[in-house]
Amino acid sequence: MPVADEEVALSETSEQWSDGDAQRRALLDEENFRPHVEVWSFKWWQYALLFLISVILLVPFAVNLAPKGSSWKEITSIDTSQPDPDVNDQQFGQSESLSQPQSPGGATLPRDEYLLDPAWDYGAAPTTRQYHWTLTETELNPDGVWRPMLLINNQFPGPLIEVNEHDTIRVVVDNQMTNATSIHWHGIYQNGTNSMDGTVGITGCPIAPNHSFTYEFKVYGQSGSYWYHAHQGMQASDGLVGPLVIHSKDEKQLQQIQYASDRIIMLSDHYHDLTGVLLRKYLAPDMENAEPVPDGALINGRAIRNCDDLPHRRCDNTTSNVGIPAFDLEPNRHHRLRIMNVGAFAEFQFQIDEHELAVTEVDGTDVRPTNYHRLNINPAQRYSVVVHTDKRERTSFRMRARMITHCFAEKNPYMVDSVQGIVQYSSNSGFTAANELPDTIDWDEAIGLECKDLNTTELVPVQVVAAPEKADAFFYLRSNFEIGAYRLSRGKFNTSSWRGDVKNPTLFRSIDGLQAKNASFDAEHDDGAVFVNDRAFNQPTELTIQSSGIQTIDVLISNFDDG
Ligand SMILES: *[C@@H]1O[C@H](CO)[C@@H](O)[C@H](O)[C@H]1NC(C)=O
Ligand SMILES: *[C@@H]1O[C@H](CO)[C@@H](O)[C@H](O)[C@H]1NC(C)=O
Ligand SMILES: *[C@@H]1O[C@H](CO)[C@@H](O)[C@H](O)[C@H]1NC(C)=O
Ligand SMILES: *[C@@H]1O[C@H](CO)[C@@H](O)[C@H](O)[C@H]1NC(C)=O
Ligand SMILES: *[C@@H]1O[C@H](CO)[C@@H](O)[C@H](O)[C@H]1NC(C)=O
Ligand SMILES: *[C@@H]1O[C@H](CO)[C@@H](O)[C@H](O)[C@H]1NC(C)=O
Ligand SMILES: *[C@@H]1O[C@H](CO)[C@@H](O)[C@H](O)[C@H]1NC(C)=O
Repeated sequence: MPVADEEVALSETSEQWSDGDAQRRALLDEENFRPHVEVWSFKWWQYALLFLISVILLVPFAVNLAPKGSSWKEITSIDTSQPDPDVNDQQFGQSESLSQPQSPGGATLPRDEYLLDPAWDYGAAPTTRQYHWTLTETELNPDGVWRPMLLINNQFPGPLIEVNEHDTIRVVVDNQMTNATSIHWHGIYQNGTNSMDGTVGITGCPIAPNHSFTYEFKVYGQSGSYWYHAHQGMQASDGLVGPLVIHSKDEKQLQQIQYASDRIIMLSDHYHDLTGVLLRKYLAPDMENAEPVPDGALINGRAIRNCDDLPHRRCDNTTSNVGIPAFDLEPNRHHRLRIMNVGAFAEFQFQIDEHELAVTEVDGTDVRPTNYHRLNINPAQRYSVVVHTDKRERTSFRMRARMITHCFAEKNPYMVDSVQGIVQYSSNSGFTAANELPDTIDWDEAIGLECKDLNTTELVPVQVVAAPEKADAFFYLRSNFEIGAYRLSRGKFNTSSWRGDVKNPTLFRSIDGLQAKNASFDAEHDDGAVFVNDRAFNQPTELTIQSSGIQTIDVLISNFDDG
């Protein structure tokens, strides 16, 4: 398995067209729909749609690495610019975050940041929800071990984006870090707003240090649990991740168990080194299949390590942000937990002792409740589960998130392969750090060892959307790792290993080429065929499939990697 973000524009776009999600929902609110980026004021989405296939090998873009530990800025202020009266400014709806306690690293701790608003108005008129984010570098000790981290508004994980379907999301990203960056909205369709997708070198340029960029896009045709993450290098694993929830006005019907609370639980593998350091090793010669092995795992950015086990690290497990992640759930009610794997590499197996998990949503698709004891969740996946707090004899239970270590290439002597949390029956609705784990009973079935997806065969969507009867085109791709020149191992689709042009992304060149009626972008045949455009794009580094207009494309990928 590649450590680099192998997510591709294609996988997200094909998800969009093949499940035809949009068709089942309310009609597009045409009136409020407009292109948001002035430079693209011509209707470029009417031209070809590009499907870009890539295994991402992100070439480090910005340099100027500050010596470790010497120049990390400690940011204590939060953006105080005035809100636009026409928009619903989310920053100012959450002013209580200003009074939250500060950890020694200067980071504000999100408390119940990820507990969704019980008074949320699902039927509100479509609005623009605006967020102001300042991205900075600081030192933080999520599990006790201090390390450089990248933070959004001084928070780790990042702030919650919570909107209704048909709302417009506007995020002003101010990059105050030393490196360039970009934010990708994972799973969001971006129909007509491709350039807001945040994939560096494909749909956009990175945001330079000391510069801002405003992402703006409307969400429709989808609802449920999503997330966002940096899409430059492996910055996501250095802290730039967070949840994105889209409410449907039909949420109460789509979710077939009514629940008293709704919250986000993010799982992530955790590394004690900056990814810049890990990547340099991983991408070196003779490092085939030697992905960096995590040092531990976090739940909502929290865990606790025994500092004595890590004598080579600067560690303090007594700060208030460090501890056993503990969630308050009101007794005798149902509670929705949106489990998200926002990590880089590890698959997790998640459970709450003595509680069945009724899966009710998979990556934005609501499903009929189906019980599981343990939930396998791979990076980028989201599952909603509903738990019933109906046990009377105890009030506190262990939550276990175990990394499936089978796919780790090497032994890491400092690794702790799981993070444990607590579900405690209480009406406080809080997220706190506890000191002691309760002694509750693990399920007795064998623990999953293989890195396999959850078997979702028995899950049935609440609203069944038929796949298009016939695809307009079909492509077959072989994915694997190959050792090439200089004994470098690189991920490939067929003979192509992606190496984009960060200064002139695929999308921009395509728009220019189509506008200029450059023959390299002409369809090969006049029948609107979908084809690999190897005239405009260099196949070995930028395998690009071009189509005219909206088409249904089947892609069959045979994965020859053993991980
Ligand atoms: C995408 O936008 C186009 C043009 O506005 C529209 O015709 C199409 O239905 C939209 N597709 C989806 C899936 O929403
Ligand atoms: C960003 O701006 C600050 C203050 O103006 C300056 O010290 C710093 O060098 C700038 N960083 C970059 C990467 O240009
Ligand atoms: C900045 O980018 C360089 C080059 O990729 C990398 O070595 C360094 O670790 C990055 N710094 C941070 C703070 O992400
Ligand atoms: C925190 O670290 C100290 C050593 O600094 C250790 O004695 C203690 O047990 C650790 N706490 C936990 C919960 O591991
Ligand atoms: C998944 O579960 C179904 C029944 O629920 C079973 O028929 C099928 O063999 C399972 N698939 C795998 C790969 O285990
Ligand atoms: C990828 O390689 C396979 C096997 O050689 C071939 O059948 C397929 O057409 C190739 N796909 C593309 C998009 O070129
Ligand atoms: C047409 O596009 C190709 C590929 O981007 C480019 O190499 C070529 O220079 C363009 N031709 C003209 C006349 O602009």
